[in-house]
Amino acid sequence: MFELKLEKKELPFAMAEEIKNLRTGITFSGADIKAILFTSSTPNEGKSTISLELARSFAELGKKVVYLDCDLRKSIFNCKIREGKIVSGLSHYLTGQSKIEDIIYENDPGDDDVKFYVIPSGPSSNSPTELLSSDLFDKLLEKLREDYDMVIVDAPPLGSVVDASIVSSKVDGTVIVVEAGNINYKAIQKVRDKLDASGAKILGVVLNKVDKSRKSYGYYKYGKDYGYGYGYGKG
Ligand SMILES: Nc1ncnc2c1ncn2[C@@H]1O[C@H](COP(=O)(O)OP(=O)(O)O)[C@@H](O)[C@H]1O
Ligand SMILES: [Mg+2]
Repeated sequence: MFELKLEKKELPFAMAEEIKNLRTGITFSGADIKAILFTSSTPNEGKSTISLELARSFAELGKKVVYLDCDLRKSIFNCKIREGKIVSGLSHYLTGQSKIEDIIYENDPGDDDVKFYVIPSGPSSNSPTELLSSDLFDKLLEKLREDYDMVIVDAPPLGSVVDASIVSSKVDGTVIVVEAGNINYKAIQKVRDKLDASGAKILGVVLNKVDKSRKSYGYYKYGKDYGYGYGYGKG
């Protein structure tokens, strides 16, 4: 196992509160919900930001958490890869080049953070769909479920690629992240339909980048199964 120091940004109070609300919502969605996927209809809506903070937040409760970066096209750890701090990731494992224990990094908590674990996606791959469909990916999830209390999975958007749909059928629940200023209902419905078709359990929708100065702020809901409201201002 390698060590890695992840930056910890001080979250604005409102966001910290909403991450806790999200954590509570997920905790109450069932004892069998252990592996959770975050997805969205387009890039940059905030999946990686929210899923990483949620992983940290569960770790703060004393849970053993692993954050699995499945975005084989655009990893949030690219900068660490460039700095040479990450040598192998998910794509190495899925192509048979690395073992599971060689792709797990322990966040060095220092004095300001908590300990949790991350699996970076590794160098970008031309065939993420095939890789994520493989038995090796199933084996990885099985092992992570055994070894960790929570497995937080950061996926690529569903709108452009099918990867998240494949992954959603392998986890216990999926959360859709929607950027408040950028809501395209048709695109979100399409995401929901794809997830439904793959047998995913949709836990809720996170409304991100909410402009709280506007009166129109409110929880985003559709259908009885889509329950989260998550408000965090851009500024
Ligand atoms: N609630 C928020 N308020 C302000 N900026 C945000 C918020 N959530 C995400 N961002 C920023 O938006 C950009 C995209 O977020 P990211 O989490 O990488 O999206 P995704 O993983 O969905 O592509 C990043 O620069 C991130 O810092
Ligand atoms: Mg991302």
